[in-house]
Amino acid sequence: MRLGILISGRGSNFEAISNAITQGKLDAEIAIVISNRAGAGGLEIARERGIPLRVIPSQGIDREQYDKLLIEELRTHRVELVCLAGFMRLLSASFVHAFPNRVLNIHPSLLPAFPGLDAQRQALDYGVKIAGCTVHFVDEFLDAGPILLQSAVPVTDKDSIETLSARILAQEHATYWRAVQAVADGRVSISGRKIAISEPE
Ligand code: GAR
Repeated sequence: MRLGILISGRGSNFEAISNAITQGKLDAEIAIVISNRAGAGGLEIARERGIPLRVIPSQGIDREQYDKLLIEELRTHRVELVCLAGFMRLLSASFVHAFPNRVLNIHPSLLPAFPGLDAQRQALDYGVKIAGCTVHFVDEFLDAGPILLQSAVPVTDKDSIETLSARILAQEHATYWRAVQAVADGRVSISGRKIAISEPE
């Protein structure tokens, strides 16, 4: 399965997916990494690993126009599954329709709790005892599509944003590639909001 990975920053989720491929755990190929920010740290990781990369700056372009550029680039690289990995932009309905049930996102909360920015801070401020991450299909709404996988982590009284974010991030890295593998294996069935994943053979 040819992956297109969209990033805006550090790129540690992209790196974890790339590691899972290198380690033979994930049967996929990263066809292209696209960043909407020139300074994204993840670009350096792609460069070091010889993974094709492209910066498509999003500033000052309207959403439909921008998403057209993204679709074009992803199609050029024959991408079959789009993985948002810290891509901090909402995608248009046209983008979602261009890759039906073929766009995944990872979010650092147990959705539908705490969508949007600073999910870990939202969780801490709310006082939850369990936090975590979610891999879901993307629709045109924010952090809203059907859920593929979730992983939970405990929140302790001593947690700061940094410690909680790090604990969640470790789970993100362990979870995202499994969701990608399930899609790549064709083990995912979707019925409305409900997703069933069968065990690997
Ligand atoms: C990750 O924690 C990811 O879950 C989050 O941004 C971070 C990106 O880190 N995404 C969102 O909040 C999307 N709503 P990374 O660049 O190191 O993968």
